[in-house]
Amino acid sequence: MAAIPLPTSIDQTAELLRSGGYVAERSLATALFLALAMKRPLFLEGEAGVGKTEIAKVLSHTLKRDLIRLQCYEGLDISSAVYEWNYPRQIMAIRLAEAAGKSTDAAQQIYSEQYLIKRPLMQALEKHDGGPPVLLIDELDRTDEPFEAFLLEVLSDFQVTIPELGTVKADQPPIVIITSNRTREIHDALKRRCLYHWVDYPNAERERAILAAKAPDVGEKLGTQVVNFVQMLRGMELFKPPGIAETIDWAMALKVLNARELEPATVDATLGVVLKYQDDIARVRGVVATQGVEAAKKAAV
Ligand SMILES: Nc1ncnc2c1ncn2[C@@H]1O[C@H](COP(=O)(O)OP(=O)(O)O)[C@@H](O)[C@H]1O
Ligand SMILES: [Mg+2]
Repeated sequence: MAAIPLPTSIDQTAELLRSGGYVAERSLATALFLALAMKRPLFLEGEAGVGKTEIAKVLSHTLKRDLIRLQCYEGLDISSAVYEWNYPRQIMAIRLAEAAGKSTDAAQQIYSEQYLIKRPLMQALEKHDGGPPVLLIDELDRTDEPFEAFLLEVLSDFQVTIPELGTVKADQPPIVIITSNRTREIHDALKRRCLYHWVDYPNAERERAILAAKAPDVGEKLGTQVVNFVQMLRGMELFKPPGIAETIDWAMALKVLNARELEPATVDATLGVVLKYQDDIARVRGVVATQGVEAAKKAAV
């Protein structure tokens, strides 16, 4: 399979994302274009639900590259992220060899590739049909610092050393997207290896374009009012402001309810699609919702 060439300009990068249903800001298209051209990881930071993870998915889809995802969590270690030996199979091999009287051969063979379980970082260094894969290191802020230090090493050389087997090095580096919801700061050393972009909530215009791309069945009138209302919510300093997925879900939910426009009663009844904390819902329900609906309609004219 012939590899799909990487974009050669910022416009082409924006167009590539657009073809995968992703409506990007110019500054994001620029950062991504540079990261691809310079073969550097792209570090995306921002609130939850602003479209960080989606970028890696859309890239892999539009460039027809494999997507390898490393979901980070507290306690993530090398055996889950890079490789581990298939211990039960090794034991089995030794037992079988012992039974056949060949235990010395078996001892030499159990540290070969067939007994290796490759985890995402190792998989990303291997050769892939169609070109280097997209490696998504998602929510890095959830891991602890020792893992971050280890990751820095991998991202510096795109190689991993297995003591019993040797060094595995990528022919060509994977396309690396790292995301963080910024529940803690990531170290400067790791950031320095990457190009950085802060992914912000979209303005109303871009959010309408996203909604049109993701939920084309929602009429323009309803879509515009939903976006205006959500934008107002984001200005309220809620405990958890709605992300873009919530905007899309809400518009689709209202469509299922056959709403043509926002009405205070429907808004009250469906707030749980947009807000996921009872305190936030309680703050918005009632007067705020009614005023919000009025404002959203006025702005929409
Ligand atoms: N710029 C965008 N264009 C199109 N859809 C988007 C965009 N940003 C976010 N989305 C939608 O919002 C959803 C949530 O985004 P996601 O990437 O999971 O957020 P994050 O990783 O920042 O928490 C995605 O599944 C996608 O449908
Ligand atoms: Mg995400």
